[in-house]
Amino acid sequence: MPEIHWDSKLYNEQHRFVSNYGADVLQWLDAKAGENILDVGCGTGDLAAKIQESGATVSGVDASADMIELAKQNYPLLQFEVQDAAALDYNREFDAVFSNATFHWIENQRGLLRGIFKSLKHGGRLVAEFGGKGNVKSIVDAIDQAAKELGLEHRVISNFWFFPSIAHYANLLEASGFETEQMWLFDRPTKLVGEDGMLNWINQFAQHAFVNLNEEEAKAVTNLAVSILKPTYFKNGEWTADYKRLRVKALKR
Ligand code: BEZ
Repeated sequence: MPEIHWDSKLYNEQHRFVSNYGADVLQWLDAKAGENILDVGCGTGDLAAKIQESGATVSGVDASADMIELAKQNYPLLQFEVQDAAALDYNREFDAVFSNATFHWIENQRGLLRGIFKSLKHGGRLVAEFGGKGNVKSIVDAIDQAAKELGLEHRVISNFWFFPSIAHYANLLEASGFETEQMWLFDRPTKLVGEDGMLNWINQFAQHAFVNLNEEEAKAVTNLAVSILKPTYFKNGEWTADYKRLRVKALKR
C-alpha cells in the first residue's frame, strides 16, 4: 500500500460519498441478524454502522489510525481496530467479509485474499466493491499530461492503484480458494463537491503520485491537471469524476 496520510477531516467533509455509494453494495452483502461480519477498510465507520443495523455483529479494521479514531468517535458502541488489510490474522471467525473502496489501495492482493479466506467460516462470503479497470482514467491521464508538459513525467507516479478487470480478479479469487459467485464492472460517474472538488480529490486521493516532487512542483502538476480536466468534467458548477467500480461476491465453499 502506498504511504498515504489520510486527512480524515477532509474525507468526512468532502468525500463522504465514498460510503454513501457503498450503501448500494450492502444489498449484495445481505447481512442477517446474528452474523459476525468483518468490514475491511472501514474508514470512518459509516457502513459498519449500517451493517450493524441488520442485527449482525460488526468489527471494522482500517490501516489509518486517524480514520479509526474518527470511527470510534462516530460510533462508540462498535468495535474498530487499526490493522493492515494485507496481514489479517483471524481464523474462521466471520460469516462474511465486507469491503468498500479499499482493495484498489492494496498492492499485496494475494496476502489480502489469503487473510480474508482464512478469516471466513466454511460457507462464508466475501462482498467487496472497489475501483475496476479504467477507473478515474481521465484523472490519471490528466496528471500524466500535466507532468509531461512540466517536464516532470519521470518523477510522477500517476497510476499506483490496483484497478483490475473481471477476468483478472476472478483469477486472483480462484487462486486464493474462492468460488466467484457474481462480478459486475460498471460506470459510476461521481459528483465532487464544489468548485475545488477536483483539486480536493487529487489532494486527498492522489498525493502518492507526487512523493518524488517538492511542494511547489506538486502544486503545479495538480493545478495544470485540474485545468486540463475542467472543460470536460466541470459542468454547471459541478465536477464529475469517471469512477468505474468492480463489485464482487465470492464464496468459501
Ligand atoms: C475509488 O474509490 O475508486 C478511488 C478513490 C480514490 C482513489 C482512486 C480510486
